[in-house]
Amino acid sequence: MSSYIDFSQPSLWISTASILFNPTFWNIAAQQEYHNKILTKLAGGNARFGCYGLAVTIFSLGIFRDYLYNEALVAQPTHPALLSPLVKYSAIPLFLTGNTLVLSSMWALGVTGTYLGDYFGILMDAPVTSFPFNVSEAPMYHGSTLSFLATALWYGKPAGLFLTAIVASAYSVARRWEDPFTGMIYAKRDEERKRGKKGI
Ligand SMILES: *[C@@H]1O[C@H](CO)[C@@H](O)[C@H](O)[C@H]1NC(C)=O
Repeated sequence: MSSYIDFSQPSLWISTASILFNPTFWNIAAQQEYHNKILTKLAGGNARFGCYGLAVTIFSLGIFRDYLYNEALVAQPTHPALLSPLVKYSAIPLFLTGNTLVLSSMWALGVTGTYLGDYFGILMDAPVTSFPFNVSEAPMYHGSTLSFLATALWYGKPAGLFLTAIVASAYSVARRWEDPFTGMIYAKRDEERKRGKKGI
């Protein structure tokens, strides 16, 4: 195993830490917003601006995480089995698919829909079911994971596959946390809508 992945490289662990940090950070920030309106207060009482601030922060953390991932891969050995043209060029459709899923879901959801607007009380009228949500339950997470996988294969680095597995696990934990919570937010809204209708 040690000839496949150089676990003595600090950059490997720095990349791991940033992969785990990002979803942890945005979930804590979103929970704090939901319960204490912290980001809305920081934005002078404007929930939309608070959400934009979180969006810029999460987006920047994502860019930094991608940079640390690439830095980590540079310091890692390649493996001959991963250097075959078949493996290398399979990275291209994977990367294109991954980016299509990420960009099209951002396009479908908009800024506040993508970046946890529900926690700010900025709810969507109805769940988005159009592409890419008709091909993936979590296109943002699946697309992002595919891009990590594609990069690992393109450079032929087993360490990239290791880090991709950490990305997939981090997103899986995040979804187990986020999906029931946003479900609860929308269930509450639907309950209030029903009550509103009865009041009329
Ligand atoms: C998803 O929707 C797109 C258009 O919005 C359509 O072209 C595609 O065939 C759909 N895919 C599935 C699996 O339903």
